[in-house]
Amino acid sequence: MKFFLDTANLDELKKGANWGIVDGVTTNPTLIAREGRPLEEQIRRICEIVDGDISAEVLATDTEGMLREGRALAQLHPNIVVKCPLTRDGIRATKTFAQEGIRVNVTLCFTAAQALLAAKAGAYIISPFVGRLDDIGSNGMDLIRDIALIYRNYGFKTQILAASIRHPIHVVEAARAGAHIGTLPFKVLDQLFNHPLTDKGLEQFLKDYAKVFQETSVG
Ligand code: G3P
Repeated sequence: MKFFLDTANLDELKKGANWGIVDGVTTNPTLIAREGRPLEEQIRRICEIVDGDISAEVLATDTEGMLREGRALAQLHPNIVVKCPLTRDGIRATKTFAQEGIRVNVTLCFTAAQALLAAKAGAYIISPFVGRLDDIGSNGMDLIRDIALIYRNYGFKTQILAASIRHPIHVVEAARAGAHIGTLPFKVLDQLFNHPLTDKGLEQFLKDYAKVFQETSVG
């Protein structure tokens, strides 16, 4: 399972990249706006930090506008994946981008029917929003399982990216459900490391060794 960071914050990206387990980045207009720099400038900086797929979302809502913006974004760096919303215009743009060899992450997916549309249009990635479904009392992980089954049935190559992840259990459940990618807020990625028994066990190892050899360093 690939781990992407769902953030445009450069400090979080540097910390995550330093752990050596971050495979890419997703952004959206909200995350970009939070950092206060124009989209293309922030995306350029992100491409310098993480060597992997970097999703950059168009702002236009009409097909021609999406194509214009997406082609410009794709020119910024080979790792750019253009993000389009799952609308009629977004699917039409996805189809054209796929024919032009521009990779698309189709975002704001909330049903298996929508995911079918994205795969048929040649999407590189589909982003079902697990957390936002959970937030309204639906089971977001059921959607991941449905999409994985349907894509397997027809051999669709579109990668399933579990998005809107709220906590470590979402990550584990998405992996169980067969998502290819999980995009995590930095806080959730950091939480994955934590267990009190790991900390306690390490502390005891070092204490036991130090009792015999005084020094805590091995050798
Ligand atoms: O970036 C797409 C998705 O991960 C947004 O998540 O937390 O705004 O529902 P969230």
